[in-house]
Amino acid sequence: METRAKWCLSFGLLLTVMSTVNSQYRYDYSYHTKARGWLKLHIMPSTFNDAFRICNAEGAVLASPLNILLKNVMMTIQNKMVGDSCALYTGIHSIFAQGSFASVEGKPIARLGIEWAPNEPDNYNNTESCIVMLQNGTMADVRCTETFPFICYKKKSNNMALNDCGTIDNEYSLDSRTGSCYKFHRVGRTWRNAYMTCMAEGGHLAIINSQTEMQVLKELFAKHPTDSISAQSRDVIAVGFHDWGESRVWYTVHGQSIVDAGYSTFAQGQPDDDKSFDSTGSHCGGMFRDGLLDDFWCIGNTLPFICEKRPDSLTAEDDDL
Ligand SMILES: *[C@@H]1O[C@H](CO)[C@@H](O)[C@H](O)[C@H]1NC(C)=O
Ligand SMILES: *[C@@H]1O[C@H](CO)[C@@H](O)[C@H](O)[C@H]1NC(C)=O
Repeated sequence: METRAKWCLSFGLLLTVMSTVNSQYRYDYSYHTKARGWLKLHIMPSTFNDAFRICNAEGAVLASPLNILLKNVMMTIQNKMVGDSCALYTGIHSIFAQGSFASVEGKPIARLGIEWAPNEPDNYNNTESCIVMLQNGTMADVRCTETFPFICYKKKSNNMALNDCGTIDNEYSLDSRTGSCYKFHRVGRTWRNAYMTCMAEGGHLAIINSQTEMQVLKELFAKHPTDSISAQSRDVIAVGFHDWGESRVWYTVHGQSIVDAGYSTFAQGQPDDDKSFDSTGSHCGGMFRDGLLDDFWCIGNTLPFICEKRPDSLTAEDDDL
């Protein structure tokens, strides 16, 4: 598909807020009987890879019209958005082999009963490996680096009991010393993608609020020796502080200075404002194995990371409202 409009606003926002009424899975997903599961609309246009990653981190998958009932529910949600031919990413892609389309669950396109929009798929410029659904339910192929809104889908299953951390993700465990839950990610990501993953899991990159919490993170890091980690930097974890674009000024991802947050002890020689990758841009927060802080260039470098979540972050009413 050569061109498209993708600004699909306002009603989508309203929908997100309304769905908080239903909180069986997560406050931000709503249950649809006909779809036999929970759905969540993401109105912020994202690339296919980001959409895939966000849905996965939310414990769901990027939704595809796997059957007519699910397709109808997706279209109902999609039609609450406003915009000309407002398209939605589906989980149907051919990123592994051009032209071999399947849903992210692996269901081949021939089993999906796809109806194409006129002159689609055109594999425009031989670069189109992703599939969007237009508002009338017809499909078109697009470049996967284009950005579109998308829907995540969580199919109902038997093993969906929430644990002590208020999530079905059993890699989170509660630490009584801080009252927070933590999850160690051994597969490294850039700080940005680590941030995004923790958010989608219902938490945030770990914020160190005390010596005790530093100790908790340090112990968790120690359970994952260097050779168990797959990342470019294996002895620093990404944590939740950043220079917010201002060199050498450090704030947590919740906007508090790290001094006020309760822990700000950098390692000897740090922050070193390392500009070996570039001379501009921002720096991200990390922690060494000994619990001391580090700064590193945000782009390109992948690191293990720890997400932190409140046990009620996905289930409680928002008391700030
Ligand atoms: C199509 O591809 C060519 C070469 O790969 C590129 O120069 C051109 O800008 C592309 N056209 C569009 C509209 O993207
Ligand atoms: C669906 O929408 C597309 C894009 O607006 C349009 O070209 C096509 O004719 C429509 N198809 C049907 C079956 O309504």
